[in-house]
Amino acid sequence: MNILVTGGGGFIGSHLVDLLLKQGHSVRVLDNFSTGHRSNIPLSNSALQVVEGDIRDQMTVEQTVSGVDAIVHLAAVASVQASVDDPFGTHEVNLIGTVNLLEAAKKHSVGRFVFASSAAVYGDVKQLPVCEDIPLQPLTPYAADKLSSEFYIDFYRRQYGLESVIFRFFNIFGPRQDPSSPYSGVIGIFMERAIADLPITVFGDGDQSRDFVYVADLAILLCRSVESDQPLIKPMNVGNGKGTNLNQLLDYLHEFTGRPLDVSHFEPRLGDIRHSLADNRRLIEMMNYQCIYPVVDGLRLTYEWCLDRSRMNSDAVCGRIS
Ligand SMILES: NC(=O)c1ccc[n+]([C@@H]2O[C@H](COP(=O)([O-])OP(=O)(O)OC[C@H]3O[C@@H](n4cnc5c(N)ncnc54)[C@H](O)[C@@H]3O)[C@@H](O)[C@H]2O)c1
Repeated sequence: MNILVTGGGGFIGSHLVDLLLKQGHSVRVLDNFSTGHRSNIPLSNSALQVVEGDIRDQMTVEQTVSGVDAIVHLAAVASVQASVDDPFGTHEVNLIGTVNLLEAAKKHSVGRFVFASSAAVYGDVKQLPVCEDIPLQPLTPYAADKLSSEFYIDFYRRQYGLESVIFRFFNIFGPRQDPSSPYSGVIGIFMERAIADLPITVFGDGDQSRDFVYVADLAILLCRSVESDQPLIKPMNVGNGKGTNLNQLLDYLHEFTGRPLDVSHFEPRLGDIRHSLADNRRLIEMMNYQCIYPVVDGLRLTYEWCLDRSRMNSDAVCGRIS
């Protein structure tokens, strides 16, 4: 298949590109490299075509979509804080960019459109695990744009028969993640500091937990969703269905480094969500998929990657290749 990956130079996108190429697909990446990096993707692979361009630009999108069988739309301003600071600028990327791609997909009769939505559409839910059908409460411009994108995708499916798949990612982690990521950046920060033998700060008692998914699992899932010809109409949570708290993360890190960590606890930060956990039954039912990588295995692989990076360049910032 000929597959377009928007945001293919980013953290999740680059892992997907690697896997699609390995599976024998031709891949086209559309990325403006605002947070992604060319060095994340195998530029010399002849089955890979890279278009440096912006999803806000209708003409670029139209030309790039021409001739592809499927689109995996990952490009976004993936920072919730950026959307709070600049709602208009992020809206142009996170919603108008999506509509540009949908219009081009319609025009070029693209077979399948896979979208990276987010658990942020649920807001601060107290009843866990979070299932897809609860009332949605997007609390930030980022979440509002993700949800609006879902509604537009649904419209293009009903109106024009565009086959679509919507995934609501929980906390994805792994190599190449920017430590400033609001999702799992904390993992990169802890690892970076543990490797450099620096003190680690935890806000609150460390009992706050997230549903972490290793990025290789997500890449497999995205790849399968593109290859599948099954209708996948309803949005699906992407989570492990298991929570891991910060104290557990630190215990694992202690085990990996083989030395005690210097951890200090500070007052909890205002507005921090305490627990987040996905109900992943729909994912298992519809995709017949359960995460292959236990969190601890993903953490070990991420730790080894961070270690390699810091060995290669003591100035390198863990989670980012530049
Ligand atoms: N990482 C997570 O845990 C998580 C959780 C929920 C949802 N998501 C979503 O998954 C997707 C990928 O996230 P990520 O963590 O890999 O982030 P990332 O920042 O590493 O990747 C985003 C990519 O999009 C590109 N991009 C940004 N604006 C663009 C534009 N205007 N035109 C073209 N390209 C543009 C960036 O350069 C980057 O390569 C995003 O849509 C994000 O909202 C991620």
